[in-house]
Amino acid sequence: MNILYVGDIMGEPGIEAVSCVLPEVRKQYKPDLVIAQAENTTNGKGLSRTDLDRLLRLGVDFCTGGDWSMHLPEIYDYLDDPSQPVIRPANYPEGTPGLGWKYIETATGSVLVISLRGSIVGKKAEDPMNNPLKIVDQILLENEDVQRDATIVNFHGDFSSEKRMIGYYLDGRVTAVIGDHWHVPTADAMILPKGTAHITDVGMCGTLHSSLGVKLSVTTKRWYDGHPSRNQLETDGPLQFNATLITSNSSHSATSIQHINQIIPAALCSV
Ligand SMILES: [Fe+2]
Repeated sequence: MNILYVGDIMGEPGIEAVSCVLPEVRKQYKPDLVIAQAENTTNGKGLSRTDLDRLLRLGVDFCTGGDWSMHLPEIYDYLDDPSQPVIRPANYPEGTPGLGWKYIETATGSVLVISLRGSIVGKKAEDPMNNPLKIVDQILLENEDVQRDATIVNFHGDFSSEKRMIGYYLDGRVTAVIGDHWHVPTADAMILPKGTAHITDVGMCGTLHSSLGVKLSVTTKRWYDGHPSRNQLETDGPLQFNATLITSNSSHSATSIQHINQIIPAALCSV
């Protein structure tokens, strides 16, 4: 099975990058399933129903979540509905709307997709999250007897130490553990010793010359004088598309992992 995981889609420039590159990538690699990190899709904060529909029309099959998943309440019903291809991190506290794992049926088999948030994520470090390791153990136990062809875990976190550790924690138990949230791709895509594919961070889809998709004029000033300021998305200049392609075998192990990075010159493509 070929599974493509597309990195954080950051606002309109992210949607534009996906629109420009994904059709070609689909043709070239023929993925059976395309999963994308969509928590930043709608103006950098959350995912609207309209933008979910747009991503599905562009060739995304399923969306994972992160620290912005709960920002737009209009998506809560979709997060709750097992038939809607979108989840939020599974380790939010009891009572949080939505599901943190769902199955998606593809032409070549059934895939369990799980989203987890790192224990500490930037300014949201005080959020009362459940322990991601204990939660993923529970999910895998609950689904132990469910027939499926692959299990993909998304780990949306800040600490590289935690993102590396969970790969090894789940090695041999799931097909892939894909890290994101940094918006910067790492060069460590690998198959771990017991057959799980892992990358610390996939990177993002959006503007290239920016600070994680945000205007450099805003972030530079913030780092220079320390005054809080509102993020403004960069919308000019070349775009970047980052994704990770995983191939798995009939025993659900990964057989290859490959990072895909494409730079799109400004104005080459528009939605
Ligand atoms: Fe995030």
